[in-house]
Amino acid sequence: MESLVEALIPYAVRAPSGHNTQPWQFTVEQDTIRIYPDPSRRLPVVDPDDHALFISLGCALENLVVAAAQQGLAARIDYFPSGEPEECLRVRFSEGADEDTNALFQAIPQRQSNRGTYDGKAINDSDLARMLEANPCDSVAVRAFRVSDPKIEPIIGFVREGNIAQFNDPAFVAELVSWIRFSRREVSTRQDGLAAAALGFPSVPRWLGNWIMTTLVKPDGEAARQDKAIRSSSLLLIFIARVNDKRHWVDVGRSFERVVLTAASLDIAHAHVNMPCEVEPIRRRLATHLGLEPGEQPLLLIRLGYARKRMPPSPRRPIDQVIRERGAAMTGSDLEEFRCA
Ligand SMILES: Cc1cc2nc3c(=O)[nH]c(=O)nc-3n(C[C@H](O)[C@H](O)[C@H](O)COP(=O)(O)O)c2cc1C
Repeated sequence: MESLVEALIPYAVRAPSGHNTQPWQFTVEQDTIRIYPDPSRRLPVVDPDDHALFISLGCALENLVVAAAQQGLAARIDYFPSGEPEECLRVRFSEGADEDTNALFQAIPQRQSNRGTYDGKAINDSDLARMLEANPCDSVAVRAFRVSDPKIEPIIGFVREGNIAQFNDPAFVAELVSWIRFSRREVSTRQDGLAAAALGFPSVPRWLGNWIMTTLVKPDGEAARQDKAIRSSSLLLIFIARVNDKRHWVDVGRSFERVVLTAASLDIAHAHVNMPCEVEPIRRRLATHLGLEPGEQPLLLIRLGYARKRMPPSPRRPIDQVIRERGAAMTGSDLEEFRCA
């Protein structure tokens, strides 16, 4: 069983993560995979409470569940079980899958964030329904808005405000720049982060990329670019955690991953336009605009549509860098840093 289970990890790491930090570590023991958050890959500026980190773990978890079912295995998930010495998601596999995930499984390597402009074609109602039905978690609500509906204008306004706030914040720009891999060499040595090609930029040396990001890229220009990208799309989807805690953040990742794998299986592209969810005061206003209950949080905002072309794939670190030796734990200072966050 252990080798069958270990063979699932390459699918888990294909999951999306904020700034492609890939903030996960895994252990494999007999029929069990444990997924640990990696505190060295936090994003303290854009994600100070780590909700995006736990969403990313949820995406990796869902890929595991989908890949396991394809191998005939059912997955039982324990969220942060109390008997574990470290905070983790524990997944126990057993013979006998209870669902057919073939289409989703085939979509794992196809899914990618596509930040280009789309062709404006509408996604039909039945494909939209399939994507919404793919949400496996009652703990997460997914709301859909057609870009052609004038009622979405306030949401586009929140995206614009979020974009401007972020690009006016030197700490946000510095953190973003630290995760952009400007040259092909940086991509191949680091194998994480935002590869220039996946962002639609040419490969340039770091000093030049740094200069472009801090001098040429202007908040208004970025906001206008995102505005155009949204208007070329067909739909916006907002993922709402019904409670604002780690377990629900993981569930947002699970829901998001199922929805975008379903989209990918239908040749529908997606990209994040997350800015209003990342800037707290704007997130609060978005929640009010959506009429959410107290405590409910809009945590992800994505656009969907038909891309004009695929983007180059984003890199992933080799598997041996994300699988821990059995018994190896995080260092005390790593853990302390994480608990304080
Ligand atoms: C929680 C979360 C937040 C994200 N936020 C953004 C974002 O604000 N802007 C963006 O362009 N991409 C965002 N992404 C997409 C990641 O940058 C992307 O998944 C990563 O670079 C890997 O690329 P891939 O999705 O093509 O595999 C986010 C992804 C996750 C899971």
